Amino acid sequence: MSGGLEGNASVLSPEEAIFAASMVKAGQGHLFENWPAPGEKDAEKKALIQQIMQADAKYGGGIVQYIKNARKLLADSKAGVDAFAGFSPNIPMGETLTAHTDAWAAMEQVGLDSVAECSFMLVAGGLGERLGYSNIKVGLPTESFTGRCYLQYYIEQILAYQAYARETRRDDSITLPLAMMTSADTDARTKALLAAHSNFGMAEGQITLLMQGKVPSIEDNDGRIALDETGFQIQTKPHGHGDVHSLLHMSGTVKKWRKMGKKWLFIFQDTNAFALQSCLLGLGASVKNGFDMNSVCVPRIAGEAIGGICCLKSQNPDVKDLTINVEYNQIDSMLRATEQFKDGDVNDPVTGFSVWPGSINELVFKLESYDGALEESKGAVPEFVNPKYKDSTKTAFKSPTRLECMMQDFPRLYSNGALVGFTSLNRTYVRQYSPVKNNVKDAKAKQESGLEPACASAGEMDFYKWNCDILSCGGAGMAIGKPVHAEFLGIKVSIPPAVILSPSFAVGCKSKVSGGSLAPGSVLVLEGAGITLKNVHVDGCLIVKAKPGEEITLENLTVKNAGCKFVALTPEELAAAPEPVSIRGFRVDPIEMKTYTAAGKYTGEVTCDPSPVQ
Ligand code: UTP
Repeated sequence: MSGGLEGNASVLSPEEAIFAASMVKAGQGHLFENWPAPGEKDAEKKALIQQIMQADAKYGGGIVQYIKNARKLLADSKAGVDAFAGFSPNIPMGETLTAHTDAWAAMEQVGLDSVAECSFMLVAGGLGERLGYSNIKVGLPTESFTGRCYLQYYIEQILAYQAYARETRRDDSITLPLAMMTSADTDARTKALLAAHSNFGMAEGQITLLMQGKVPSIEDNDGRIALDETGFQIQTKPHGHGDVHSLLHMSGTVKKWRKMGKKWLFIFQDTNAFALQSCLLGLGASVKNGFDMNSVCVPRIAGEAIGGICCLKSQNPDVKDLTINVEYNQIDSMLRATEQFKDGDVNDPVTGFSVWPGSINELVFKLESYDGALEESKGAVPEFVNPKYKDSTKTAFKSPTRLECMMQDFPRLYSNGALVGFTSLNRTYVRQYSPVKNNVKDAKAKQESGLEPACASAGEMDFYKWNCDILSCGGAGMAIGKPVHAEFLGIKVSIPPAVILSPSFAVGCKSKVSGGSLAPGSVLVLEGAGITLKNVHVDGCLIVKAKPGEEITLENLTVKNAGCKFVALTPEELAAAPEPVSIRGFRVDPIEMKTYTAAGKYTGEVTCDPSPVQ
């Protein structure tokens, strides 16, 4: 008996047979070519058809559309079509703010005043291949003392904003909703993490999980879908974070949020601890300027691997202008092709930074116009393809590729008239962006070539620096000791006093600290809304934990003890350490500390707790 699709008609249901025939028509006959005769591997044949049918249902327009899109994009890629032809770059419109200024504090206050109307979306479906961590990135600790993971930190920040909104508006019904985009790689573990910690304090129903699908891998310029080594499964890959828009639309989440009275949406990524603080500034700038979409940015050094926001003026009256992120590997060639910016991506001699603000992919949307654009487009942001060719003929790929889409390309979905801007946040003591993206080896290489390592140890040190900055800025005025230099796993770090502030303690740049000092190498942990520090000096380790509704005030207090030590792990310890510790390369040894947990007012000179930690 013969095999192939024709020979196996009896194995398939009528629906499966019709679907398989449509795939053959779309140039995918190779998927069934090597099928043996009926009776052999029949279950696998049906499973293959079912797998493609599922992918078909998940992709807007179905697999046939996906293949058409792939052929077009692959042809453009082969022909080297310039995506920016017909556009001329102009400086975009936006707000540039510097930390510790009145303008910054005022903008943050505008954001806080509107936070009651904000909804939140965390994209957390990425594979994290560059980090190589075997679990989900949002489960990584932000720092080694409390072990509070990114997801917990994010959720506690949203809950702190919710508490602020309830208190200032005197309305206990205000709820700030959080959605998370997961993928098959992260969904089950995200659910398990939330379940194990009772949603980190969020109410039942406050979190919505939306799982993105994967798309078929493509093996050649004709858009043929790639089979895996068994021959009975298609290869699939993530479609990119651009899926967030179609998921928010198709799930009805945007409509639901609008019904709840929400006017804004903040989309953020999995491991930048400062994202929710930046949200207040971005939100403030959106409210003030009426932005439909607003990209939070940091000052960008020319050539840096961060996309730049550009205003692209169209030379064709039928094509609208675009304010959009241009990827770092495209910006220089785009600029060099113009007369005005013929020197390419260079730093402005006055500011020392590129005039194109660096987008950190934290996006604020006005929900009304976002919803309108979703209705028109179904949220399908234009895709791109990035095949790795075997040679310059561009006829064969090194490995199968796929179409991807990016959430920052949303401006392409607005009809004319949407106001798209940026909010660039300049903080000199520590950058507003410190993601944990890279494994130790790559981070080391990046640091050696003068780039940010963006790894676990750097993320932790930046987290402490951020909190030091909060305590030293404005009215707080705590004197912060110099950082101590160290090297872990070949990565150079400067360890500032290790300050950990729970989101309930410091909302935005406001904190209930005035004066005092932290000696180099000290540790300060402040957990709870009811803590006040006035003229407190720490040389060692101080931990203060106030229960909800209780007040702990430390005034004219000096704490001196042996504190804690950051210790580099030996090769044996590294091998035995849990992964979140081994990717940092150090542990923190508590030697002595002073702890306050009971409500009250404390003053004087103290050393350590009665029974020091061994
Ligand atoms: P990254 O660019 O860091 O990609 O994603 P990644 O997939 O997580 O990591 P690499 O590139 O494999 O090393 C930025 C954000 O977008 C999310 C990630 O979870 C992260 O928060 N993302 C990325 C998705 O939600 N889905 C995707 O398909 C890709």
